Amino acid sequence: MKHRNPIHDRNPEQGFTMSEHRSGIDVSRILTALTLAEKAALVSGRGAWDTAQVERVGIPSIVMTDGPHGVRLRDPQIKQFSFDASLPATCFPTASALGSSWDTELLTRVGEALGSESRAAGVSILLGPGINIKRSPLCGRNFEYLSEDPVLSGRLGAALVQGIQSRGVGASVKHFAANNQETERMRVSAEVDERTLREIYLAGFEYVVTSADPWTVMAAYNRINGVFASENHWLLTEILRTEWGFEGLVVSDWNAVSDSVRAIEAGLDLQMPTTHGASAAKLVDAVHAGRLAEQTLDRAVVRVLELVNRALESELGTTTPTVDFDAHHALARTAAAESAVLLKNEEEILPLDPTSDTRVAVIGEFARTPRFQGAGSSQVNATRVDDVWGALIAATENPLRLTFSPGFTLTGQPDDTLLAEAVAAAAAAEVAVVFLGLPSAEESEGFDREHIDLPPTQVRVLEAVAAVNRNVVVVLANGGVVRVAPWERHCHAILEVWLAGQAGGGAIADLLFGRANPCGRLAETIPVRLQDNPSYLNFPGAVGSVVHGERLYVGYRYYDAKDMAVGYPFGHGLSYTTFEYSDLDAEVVGQGAEVVLRLRLTLTNTGSLVGKEVVQVYVGDVESSVDRPVRELKAFTKIELEPGQSVPVEFELGARDLSFFSISDGRWLLESGDFEIAVGGSSRDLRLTATVVVDAPAPTRTLSLSSTVGEWLGDPVGGPSLRRALEDAEGLSMATNPEILRMVESLPLDRVVTMSGGRLDMAELGEALDPPQ
Ligand code: BGC
Repeated sequence: MKHRNPIHDRNPEQGFTMSEHRSGIDVSRILTALTLAEKAALVSGRGAWDTAQVERVGIPSIVMTDGPHGVRLRDPQIKQFSFDASLPATCFPTASALGSSWDTELLTRVGEALGSESRAAGVSILLGPGINIKRSPLCGRNFEYLSEDPVLSGRLGAALVQGIQSRGVGASVKHFAANNQETERMRVSAEVDERTLREIYLAGFEYVVTSADPWTVMAAYNRINGVFASENHWLLTEILRTEWGFEGLVVSDWNAVSDSVRAIEAGLDLQMPTTHGASAAKLVDAVHAGRLAEQTLDRAVVRVLELVNRALESELGTTTPTVDFDAHHALARTAAAESAVLLKNEEEILPLDPTSDTRVAVIGEFARTPRFQGAGSSQVNATRVDDVWGALIAATENPLRLTFSPGFTLTGQPDDTLLAEAVAAAAAAEVAVVFLGLPSAEESEGFDREHIDLPPTQVRVLEAVAAVNRNVVVVLANGGVVRVAPWERHCHAILEVWLAGQAGGGAIADLLFGRANPCGRLAETIPVRLQDNPSYLNFPGAVGSVVHGERLYVGYRYYDAKDMAVGYPFGHGLSYTTFEYSDLDAEVVGQGAEVVLRLRLTLTNTGSLVGKEVVQVYVGDVESSVDRPVRELKAFTKIELEPGQSVPVEFELGARDLSFFSISDGRWLLESGDFEIAVGGSSRDLRLTATVVVDAPAPTRTLSLSSTVGEWLGDPVGGPSLRRALEDAEGLSMATNPEILRMVESLPLDRVVTMSGGRLDMAELGEALDPPQ
């Protein structure tokens, strides 16, 4: 199958093409040649999916398209807008599946395939990956996001970006930032304190930006603490550019910009899609009226030109790849198998033997009509789709032992005939494999979910099947998480396959028949009940604002802090083999910013099948000046082992992995003391622990009269000065009595000064108030 290439096929009235260029464009020369109107036109889209061109000085237009798990390039033959009207492309598993693979190497390979399909289609920027944190299981777009944890999202997001960009196509990391819900997404303000932003919502973006150099970052729709992300100077300039050193282009989410002038001033470079000249006119007026400096506009223009140059360089420097769609389909099948999570497997009911005569009742419409992707801008027109039923028949040596009954309709209406057929099939079989999942209408871009339950009709089918057959396996297809607590007692095994992409059917057959060994791990906690989720009372907010009252305690950070029962914990996933962890050795070298924590352990495959384990490293600060999560994921690796094989596994953590973001210091801070390192197969399956001592210089803080007595006393210079001043002040020496100090330690010093009625000698505090330079 071949894609039409929208750039190379452009007709003459659309202007000249990228391929007419023999070399890149000379950015500084062109900048001086552009008129103000041309500059203003360049910083917003020409159409829905392309940048403006300026033929007079030889600037071509480049094409962007969604993303993230397949190339959704509009079919030029179809004029009417429709999410279905795109050219065929490989539909890989969606992010909630890929996130569960915990496999950076796999995500790079998927990225390479996405990059190749984009290049072949003439697409210069693929709009993805989406790495927003799954704050609530209700977010309608969770299927497009990787994890509830920023380290996992960041590492996997970076791997995807590297893969896409290795093919000369830019990625667009989205949606920057704190876009964690669909409700009111274009105007809601995420009210989040800075520490939470830094440690949870920005950290994944920071990792991708600083390690993978994405060509573009997409500014989100929502506001953050009152200011639109696309008009947020703090976010787009101070953090993204100045702190993280981002050198690519910031593009708005589609129609995110409410004020083009403010957006450019804040650091946005490209407003998408076209506004039919309206935003360009506003920018020109603002420059004429002196409300926008032309140099500020130039900065954005330069970034657009540099982006065009990057696209031209790959166009000129490498040949356009020919896409092998069969190979990509095979990769999509591997990716789906690597991403499935075996939640439980009692009595080792799985894998099923493909050679035996055991009668298997396959039940559930999803086995015939797979739900393999989500709705909205990420929807791909798959090159082909494998269904599980077909794949199971193809994989078994004895097709006659398999029966299929739909059990329920996808519309969710109870259907007694289908139910009765399913029960009869289950009663006549030794094993029933029941395919359950979310109807597509329940999760999509544009709106949030209302609950996390499976449709009651499906649960009724499961209950009825379990009443006649005790060997039940459930296979789940859903993008956002579904709770399993109400019905899991009715089955021996649960295989969560998420939205597994176009080759999911084959992958599921591979997993059920043991041709693939499950190795996915949960990238998000499955709660016992929706009400347990930390954002429950604050999602999706009201009156235009959503308060992140749970602060850092998102996902497992919350469940672990409260020591709560969960359905299945973050990081969990079984295998058909077993692993043993041994010999953890932890060594700390250096101190402060230079500290390096080296971990070594041995991993052994103690079972009888080849399989992959995801070794996870969690870190907790035993004593800290601020509240910190009990443990946080800081490193992981996925390793394949033959039966009986043992391998050494090593990790290296740095100061940042042990630090928190200190609001009072305005920076990441490492504190001396004990840290507990826990290594295992999930956040609640910690097999080995070690405590290490870390040495870091005490932070130098500037004390002031509004610092508290406690802060003064904790300071190496201020503490002794304040003690001296209190001891010397007439009638105040009793204030150094520990019990009294405890009572007054939260008082700002100026209150103590007032209370002392002039008896406290301010000169004695001078050195600490105004430290010598
Ligand atoms: C979505 C983006 C997408 C863009 C273009 C927006 O509605 O939020 O993720 O890339 O549309 O389709």
